[in-house]
Amino acid sequence: MSAFPATRLRRLRQSAPLRDLVRETTVSLDDLVMPLFVAPEELLHERLPGMSRRTVDGTVRECEELLRAGIRSVILFGIPEAKDDDGTGAWSEDGIVQQALRALRARFPELLLMTDVCLCEYTAHGHCGVLRGEEIDNDRSLELIARTAVSHVEAGAEIVCPSDMMDGRVGAIRAELPETPIISYAVKYASAFYGPFREAAGSAPSFGDRRSYQMDPGNVREGIREAALDLEEGADMLMVKPALPYLDVLRALRDRFDVPLAAYNVSGEYAMVKAAAAAGDLDERAAVLESLTAIRRAGADVIFTYWAKDVAGWL
Ligand code: PBG
Repeated sequence: MSAFPATRLRRLRQSAPLRDLVRETTVSLDDLVMPLFVAPEELLHERLPGMSRRTVDGTVRECEELLRAGIRSVILFGIPEAKDDDGTGAWSEDGIVQQALRALRARFPELLLMTDVCLCEYTAHGHCGVLRGEEIDNDRSLELIARTAVSHVEAGAEIVCPSDMMDGRVGAIRAELPETPIISYAVKYASAFYGPFREAAGSAPSFGDRRSYQMDPGNVREGIREAALDLEEGADMLMVKPALPYLDVLRALRDRFDVPLAAYNVSGEYAMVKAAAAAGDLDERAAVLESLTAIRRAGADVIFTYWAKDVAGWL
């Protein structure tokens, strides 16, 4: 027998049941949230392979399959029939997300319905708030963001997830919705990894970028301050986004805050693995399960991921 103490550690890896017994971090279907895109018409997403825009009926069918597979949480994004400067489709009572919520709420009482609260899919200019000239009008945006959240809850959403990054949006929503759980996209970076989503949701800004309201990738202390402010304003859970390039940020929040943490494994992270797998460079299943484990290990309780349904088939 070897005299190295490390050999004793290795003995704990000798068989599958032993590895399972001592594993520190696991991924369970209960931790995963599936993003769904609701639109007036069905459309395959070219840059999010395997994903598509679905009609309200298509979304109902998909949720039926998700529930059967063991996925019980979804987050809805909407692509409206028409866009305008105020993002009317985001908060109108018969908006696309509101329609989907009513259909899903009636059909699936056991499904946890979350919504992304943002204006960027609904504004003609593609920014996350409304504009005054070429600048974001933060205060008027807050009004419309809060109105959007209220309309989602009235239509059946249980959790609202503001992703717009306007200042004070959690407080504005909390003032209107004292009882509703809020997952704040608290630490959302101005990231290159949202590219495929913006095409999928048709939400790329028509001019400029989002660097005046999303965070600088070099900053982590600023993320902690953003998180603390959102908690003060009434957030119940905090999200870090993207996930894999920002695991240190997740860990920093985990060490400081005792609220549930979420991570968004975003479209660019998805597209990279898909492309590498299609080229034969990666085993998709293994790469995805390893990535999700890493995101959980860094401190996420909840993971928003386009792989949720696939993982249900794999586990
Ligand atoms: C809306 C929003 C975005 C994503 C989630 N909510 C796009 C953005 O901020 O540009 C990105 C999700 C992804 O890339 O998968 N503001």
